[in-house]
Amino acid sequence: MSTPPTRPFELVPMEANHLPEIMPIEAIAFGQFHWSSEAFINEIGNSQAYYCTLLERLHDGSTKVLGYGGCWVVCNEGHITTLAVDPDNKGASLGELIFTHLYGIATQQEAHWLTLEVRGSNITAQNLYYKYGFRLAGRRPRYYQDNHEDALLLTTPELANPQQQQVFQTQWQLLQERLKQKKYLLTTHSLLPTPLSFERDLMTT
Ligand SMILES: CC(C)(COP(=O)(O)OP(=O)(O)OC[C@H]1O[C@@H](n2cnc3c(N)ncnc32)[C@H](O)[C@@H]1OP(=O)(O)O)[C@@H](O)C(=O)NCCC(=O)NCCS
Repeated sequence: MSTPPTRPFELVPMEANHLPEIMPIEAIAFGQFHWSSEAFINEIGNSQAYYCTLLERLHDGSTKVLGYGGCWVVCNEGHITTLAVDPDNKGASLGELIFTHLYGIATQQEAHWLTLEVRGSNITAQNLYYKYGFRLAGRRPRYYQDNHEDALLLTTPELANPQQQQVFQTQWQLLQERLKQKKYLLTTHSLLPTPLSFERDLMTT
């Protein structure tokens, strides 16, 4: 059986020059009422917001945007605002990788818990969040403008709760094993608050 080739990835703070590649992903991921470039630029400039872009470094040295995500940490509440992966690379653990990075940032920034909204029909995203300990906390009726679908409001238990920490660690370890099998080589860049310790482990893969 042939081994897959190494794929070098970089998680970097989102920059305006990523937007030409982010916007087509955004349009496919979120449809008619997706965020505008201006909305992303405002978010990048928000001191309580943390946005990251996942880049793949290609053989010729150029990079390709494969996904992105963001969260706010305000008054000890972390809120995941967006998460999306290039449609050609869905199901390859990249969404989970970005998500765990956001979770790590929220923890570093001393968020007490994490919240987010997700479409009731978005089973893929819900599966990801439930796997990491999110629970249904409420419903925002007719939240989405396109089809007036309800948003589910999901929240974690206290991030410092030992059971929740165990949930995260277990899933993180499983993710790390999958990424090693896939020969993903991840680097994070120091413009982020501080590199996350669990990501440093992957750098030696
Ligand atoms: C949601 C999204 C970010 C997930 O990213 P991804 O890279 O495709 O997902 P991953 O490969 O990392 O899978 C992570 C988990 O998601 C769930 N998942 C992924 N694909 C799934 C599918 N086809 N069906 C059901 N669950 C799925 C599983 O729980 C999976 O964990 P597992 O592999 O242990 O079963 C991606 O599908 C996406 O960009 N969707 C459109 C935008 C969106 O809905 N964003 C979330 C807004 S709240």
